[in-house]
Amino acid sequence: MGRGLYERNGTCAVVMNILAIEASCDETAAAIVKDGTEVLSNVVASSAEMHAKTGGIIPETAARQQVKSIMPVVDEAMSFAKVTQNEIDKIAVTVGPGLIGSLLVGVETAKTLARLWNKPVIPVNHMMGHVYACFLEQEGKEYIVPIFPAIALVVSGGHTDLIYMKGHGETELIGTTRDDAAGECFDKCARLLGLPYPGGPSISKAAEEYLMKNLGNRLDLLPRPMISAKGRHEMDWSFSGLKTAVLNRVKSAESINAKEVQRLAAEIQEAICDVLVSKSLKAVRKYEPKSFLLSGGVAANRNLREKFADEFSHNLTGITLHVPEPKYCTDNAAMIGAAAYYLQGPASWESVFVDPQLSTTG
Ligand code: KG4
Ligand code: ZN
Repeated sequence: MGRGLYERNGTCAVVMNILAIEASCDETAAAIVKDGTEVLSNVVASSAEMHAKTGGIIPETAARQQVKSIMPVVDEAMSFAKVTQNEIDKIAVTVGPGLIGSLLVGVETAKTLARLWNKPVIPVNHMMGHVYACFLEQEGKEYIVPIFPAIALVVSGGHTDLIYMKGHGETELIGTTRDDAAGECFDKCARLLGLPYPGGPSISKAAEEYLMKNLGNRLDLLPRPMISAKGRHEMDWSFSGLKTAVLNRVKSAESINAKEVQRLAAEIQEAICDVLVSKSLKAVRKYEPKSFLLSGGVAANRNLREKFADEFSHNLTGITLHVPEPKYCTDNAAMIGAAAYYLQGPASWESVFVDPQLSTTG
């Protein structure tokens, strides 16, 4: 139960503050979210720099960092939001999918706090967290609540999923990747080019440097896997062939200079964005939703955001495109607070467990 009253659009309702915890991979995050939309605080500690040294995530290193960061991050989220434990109504936590060691740190912390403070826990699916980042208010922008039916595209390091949503909790997976996820493709290609982890931001930066000097040049060197697939796999992706094509280009070149790295980065980004947009548009034409929700770490990519914005403002004018601020695209806890508000009923701490293999619509 909430404690006070607030006003929105002239109506009064009960306030609900959720303390949300996200620790499914290499980010340790906590946030206080009011009424599923307003972010009172959003704190993220990342161990990405550590993983940059090894070129990728080592699960045990990630879990050890989670243990170190979790309580300071929760404390900071509470103090930044200026809320006390009495002003917290529920505790939300990511239960999966993710790395088991990392997930356990978040879930056991949430359960311990729930027991000590006598609060209910809301278990949240990380993928639904990404989707519900689209329900968060954006700084300096008028709030528009996404309307159903909606199609959500979640593009992250482990998933590339298209989800049809009839309403809250009424979801169907309508497209997915047959092999690597889009973020994984960015990360693996970056490694092939000698660019640092995480690969998405590195490729994006190198691509922007190329595009600044070569705007208007064709970027059609690399394949667009499955772009014309029909039938059962019409809305599925495949990214491993793209990675192999990059590997072959790198292998066949005697040496590869900085300028060529930038060009290849732009080619990779363009190929990935092209197939993401193309399949999404197919889904939109087939399902005719009222909203399209773009989310996940890869949705922080400027090129992808611009391509989607362009399509929706010129060719799909009746459908509202929702894209979270970049800081709510990559892993964060505010999105977990939003999903918890709209989706699941609370549970007692004894009945909440991690599920590293949890499916997107599970
Ligand atoms: O959602 P996320 O933070 O974590 C997972 O749930 O996986 O997504 C991480 C992925 C990584 O593969 C990372 O390279 C990619 O998102 N990413 C980006 C950008 N920022 C993060 N990819 C392309 N462009 C970006 N700006
Ligand atoms: Zn994620």
